[in-house]
Amino acid sequence: MDKFRIGIIGTGYVGLVTGACLSDMGHTVYCMDIDEKVIKDLKSGQLPIYEPGLAELVAQGKERGNLFFTTYIEEVTDNCEIIYLAVGTPQSLDGGADLSQIYEAARSIRDSARRHTIVVTKSTVPVGTGGGLQHLLAEREDNEVSFSYVANPEFLREGSAIKDFLEPDRIIIGSSDEESLDKMESIYRPLGVPMVRTDVKSAEMIKYASNAFLATKISFINEIANVCEEVGADIDVVVQGMGMDKRIGTSFLKAGIGYGGSCFPKDVQALKQLAGNTGYVFQLLNSVIEVNNLQKSRMLVKIKKKLGGLYGATIGLWGLSFKPNTDDIREASSLVLIKLLLNEGVKVKVYDPVAMEKCRLLHKGVHYCQDPYQVAEGCDALILVTEWDCFLDLDYTRILKSMNRPYIFDGRNALEHLKLRALGFEYEGVGRK
Ligand code: UGA
Repeated sequence: MDKFRIGIIGTGYVGLVTGACLSDMGHTVYCMDIDEKVIKDLKSGQLPIYEPGLAELVAQGKERGNLFFTTYIEEVTDNCEIIYLAVGTPQSLDGGADLSQIYEAARSIRDSARRHTIVVTKSTVPVGTGGGLQHLLAEREDNEVSFSYVANPEFLREGSAIKDFLEPDRIIIGSSDEESLDKMESIYRPLGVPMVRTDVKSAEMIKYASNAFLATKISFINEIANVCEEVGADIDVVVQGMGMDKRIGTSFLKAGIGYGGSCFPKDVQALKQLAGNTGYVFQLLNSVIEVNNLQKSRMLVKIKKKLGGLYGATIGLWGLSFKPNTDDIREASSLVLIKLLLNEGVKVKVYDPVAMEKCRLLHKGVHYCQDPYQVAEGCDALILVTEWDCFLDLDYTRILKSMNRPYIFDGRNALEHLKLRALGFEYEGVGRK
């Protein structure tokens, strides 16, 4: 197997996981970030993010001597023949993707490169970005330095990122340069998974279309769940029955209070924007976004109805991160609910096993508790916002006794509702009978 010297620009979820995994696969990896504190911490073994298994993988790479961290782009360009771009592409004010970090990173590679370099984009970028980056890189080309460009979107999920990177369903590599595609294939061949070789634009579109489709599945099933509530059907059985049709399957059909995170909300919006810029109105995505937003206020209406009003009530939230096994609270449903509840004059208590610190920076007027039991004390209602394992097997009798009123709202359909009802809880899920 060919071993390469690989640079990674950006040490967020995608960059750090990619760097750690590629070093695990035997390549020599230089991870670069402009944030001096992040690099200093990484050098001393402290990670800027929580991702199961990542700290261990990083430590192993450093011990093996094939994983390095730096703030200097020259250290990357001097040493590496392949450089991945894994910087953030957050939502910009107009709903599209803010590409300033990706262009800045590409510019720094262009200006400091000393040899032929393959620039690989892992970040999610709108279709057409690869073309722009190729133009930017071509501005430098001379006798010693030249660039080729590969779009290689990443499909890993936070919380299971390492497994997703090492055991993906497929790998997408897009380029007009066959030699670069061969090299990329040789990097990923040991994973033994199918690869799609294509052009840059199609590779970019595969990423957006995949995320938008998954978000569409979630909004679709949330609407079905809402109708189930109205007509007295049960979403769990409905999904089971639908999923037995091989064309449908059951994955990504878990109803709840909507999707969040740093990807789906921004990517769906960006794809809508991208289509809009060409004059095409992507109607379906308007609804996907609207349904997702409404799903949280629908939960609030349910609680209001059950409690007979919200003002002066005490409500506890179990979970803050946008999904389990991550400390990421970007676009998390918890943040929307906290805001809505505070606006209604509710005393809000919260607990999350890892995301409390990040939330504390945003919300001061919330009571941060030490564990799920402390959250429940004196509460009129509890809401399960994130289905962390630590909420799924508790002493619910103790919890019920400590509450003011017995209401529990399961925003993820993750609790054993029959058991809770038998104990005396007033349980409400999403579309559950
Ligand atoms: C998502 C994609 O799943 C990854 O393939 C992709 O690489 C990543 O975005 C990205 O673009 O970087 P991620 O945002 O980490 O990954 O998390 P998911 O597991 O996809 O969950 C996203 C949201 O959807 C969460 O809030 C989750 O609670 C929600 N969800 C997921 C549901 O409400 N129902 C489901 O059935 C599945």
